[in-house]
Amino acid sequence: MSEHIRVLLSEEEVDRRIQEIGEQISRDYAGKSVHLVCVLKGGSFFMCELAKRITVPVSLDFMSVSSYGSGTKSSGVVKIVKDLDEPLQGKDVLVVEDIVDSGRTLSYLMEMLRDRKPASLHLCTLLDKPERRVVEVNVDYTGFRIPDEFVVGYGLDYDQKYRNLPYIGIVEFDK
Ligand code: IMP
Ligand code: MG
Repeated sequence: MSEHIRVLLSEEEVDRRIQEIGEQISRDYAGKSVHLVCVLKGGSFFMCELAKRITVPVSLDFMSVSSYGSGTKSSGVVKIVKDLDEPLQGKDVLVVEDIVDSGRTLSYLMEMLRDRKPASLHLCTLLDKPERRVVEVNVDYTGFRIPDEFVVGYGLDYDQKYRNLPYIGIVEFDK
C-alpha cells in the first residue's frame, strides 16, 4: 500500500504558533529557569524550535518511552526506553511532547516524573487530538487541537518516515 501526505498545518502556521507559545512560556516562567524534558523522538523537532523562542534560561534533557508499535494504532503498553540523565528535584520542569492522543503515554509519564519531586511540572504539546482521549491528561500549553486523523511531520512519524517534514500533514492511503 502506498500513501501520500496532505498538508494540515503549513510550516508558517506551525512556526508562528511556536513563537506564540515561546512568548507565553517566557512570561509564565519570568524570573525562573525552565527545564525542558523532551519525549523522543517525536518531541525533538518541536522542543528545539520552542527552546529557541524562550527567553528565560533553559536547560534540556531527553527521555524515550514507547507506547506504539509500527503502524497507526496504540498498543497501550508504555515502557521507558531511555531515562533522563539528570534528577528533576527542585526544577521547574516542562515536558515537551509532539502529540497527546489517547493520553496513555503522558498520564503515565507525568505521574512518574512527579514522583521525582520537581518544583513544578507542566506539559506542553504541539498537537492534541481531544476526541481520542482515553485517559485524562492536564495539558498546560497546546499548539493546535486537531481532528482524529493520523498526522506526520515536525517529529511525528508513520513507520519512522516523515519526521523531517517541516509542516504537519495527514497520511492518506492510496487505493
Ligand atoms: P498516546 O499515548 O495515545 O497519547 O500516544 C502518544 C504517542 O503516540 C505520541 O507521542 C506519538 O508518538 C504517537 N501518536 C499518536 N498519534 C499520532 C499521529 O497522529 N501521528 C504520529 N504519531 C502519533
Ligand atoms: Mg511522542
